[in-house]
Amino acid sequence: IGKRIEYMEQCASTQIVAHQLAQEGAPDGTVVIAELQTEGRGRLMRKWDSAKGQGIWMSIILRPDVPPHKAPQFTLVAAVAIVRAIQSVTGLEASIKWPNDILFGTKKATGILTELQSDADGIQALIIGIGVNVNQEREDFDAAVQDIATSLRLESGQPINRRELVQEILHFLEVYTELYIEKGFAPLKILWEGHSATIGKAIRARMSRETLEGIAEGITEDGVLQLRTADGKLHGIYSADIELK
Ligand code: BTN
Repeated sequence: IGKRIEYMEQCASTQIVAHQLAQEGAPDGTVVIAELQTEGRGRLMRKWDSAKGQGIWMSIILRPDVPPHKAPQFTLVAAVAIVRAIQSVTGLEASIKWPNDILFGTKKATGILTELQSDADGIQALIIGIGVNVNQEREDFDAAVQDIATSLRLESGQPINRRELVQEILHFLEVYTELYIEKGFAPLKILWEGHSATIGKAIRARMSRETLEGIAEGITEDGVLQLRTADGKLHGIYSADIELK
């Protein structure tokens, strides 16, 4: 991972650039990084605040030989890699809110957006978008997210070297995708659960059609969140907005 790195001062979104490169045949492990994104995007069609020079805005093209239903597992693998990289560079212990938020307490420092290019033959490419709030001060965040966003600088009290963090993220992503390819998801599930802020907690899961409340019991081998509601039923959550209660 990272043998080919496309570095840009500015783009609309590194996701868009990575999709384009993937379609043109860019190899597995290609990385797109930008200093500034004018149209950074988050999950569920949300906007992602990507101020110049303060964060890591990057997208990674992977071409794993797995069926499309396994794609969400890569979001969890990436989350573990990022938590380990943050730990290695800053000494800080972040936690993961299913599926893709990396938090300090209740505040979000990192988001992951995994998108898929697939056809009848299966996955052509996975585009893993990673946004890390690195050096923002509180007032650098939009007023709307100041209370729910944080940065590594705010958490550690000192500026963080972005280059070093990028290297560590790519390093751990490579280590964990190799582990995944060799041993499957089981060992990563254990690592993920070890960093999880969700498992064992009372949560509210907002989905497009309904909202469910209950206890997050764990994740399945496919990375699906298991939610036990008060009536004792176990629900598999594939995609939702999770609120810790
Ligand atoms: C989320 O938490 O909703 C996911 C946020 C993902 C943001 C990153 S920044 C790099 C890449 N390019 C984008 O436009 N989005 C992802």
